[in-house]
Amino acid sequence: MSHPSQLPNAFLIQLRALEAAYLQSDDPRQQSGFGGGAERWRAEREPILEAIRADGDLLDVGCANGFLAESLVKWGLERGIVLRPYGVDRSRRLVELARQRRPSMAANFYVGEVWEWEPPRRFRYVYALHDCVPLEYLGAYVRRLVSRVVAPGGRLIVGAYGSRSRKIVPLDVAGCLRSAGLKVTGQSQGGAPSVTSFAWVDASYQDMPTAPGTETDRNAGDVACSHHSGSEMGRAGGRTTWREDRTGVGWRRHMRVLGGRRR
Ligand SMILES: C[S@@+](CC[C@H](N)C(=O)[O-])C[C@H]1O[C@@H](n2cnc3c(N)ncnc32)[C@H](O)[C@@H]1O
Repeated sequence: MSHPSQLPNAFLIQLRALEAAYLQSDDPRQQSGFGGGAERWRAEREPILEAIRADGDLLDVGCANGFLAESLVKWGLERGIVLRPYGVDRSRRLVELARQRRPSMAANFYVGEVWEWEPPRRFRYVYALHDCVPLEYLGAYVRRLVSRVVAPGGRLIVGAYGSRSRKIVPLDVAGCLRSAGLKVTGQSQGGAPSVTSFAWVDASYQDMPTAPGTETDRNAGDVACSHHSGSEMGRAGGRTTWREDRTGVGWRRHMRVLGGRRR
């Protein structure tokens, strides 16, 4: 399937609503779209580091106020791993907050719409939430990041967040990536019960049929998996079960967080 060079207008309107909600708070986690406290923040985000075994530059795609990149640097140091934080976000105001948080790193935070963004350089580690694009764009989005943003030999880590308070399981990122024909080299989960899901692909393993600068990489690798952002988490015989809520969409989940409900 061919995807347009711009994200759908309805999707962009939802992103703008999220930006406004994040900017209403002074709390660094809420400015990153998270409704819980420090302990849960760490439990649900630190498993990203399972993908990172050596020093390097780390780009957070959809970095909001830069707090996740900052946290990963701190937690990495505790593991003896030195990460240099970078970020890109479509919100100029959120990027400004990221720059204010770390003035010495201000130049590392870019304003950009990731579906169109041409990075000034490549990064060893790139972390990207799946819902920066509509689900049907996921395969093309991941291939675009691998072919244009991840350094050769580097790693793309894709994340998905559910909701503990509303018993919503995260998207099965690894399954979706596999359904798009990508080779998943590892995965991890965060929270108790598990409410965040991460899976990674390595640039060296990917078949990159399109060259940077071409438009055709927006057309490759459609995802056949279903949208789980609105699914409910239940337990049956000790196994997690899925119930599809066809009205569920990722942005609504965020709006509820910022409307006072905790994830
Ligand atoms: C939930 S916050 C994520 C913050 C942090 N990366 C984390 O995972 O905790 C999502 C951020 O992604 C940004 N975003 C969403 N879609 C985007 C896109 N297509 N291009 C650039 N930024 C995007 C939003 O502006 C928002 O600041």
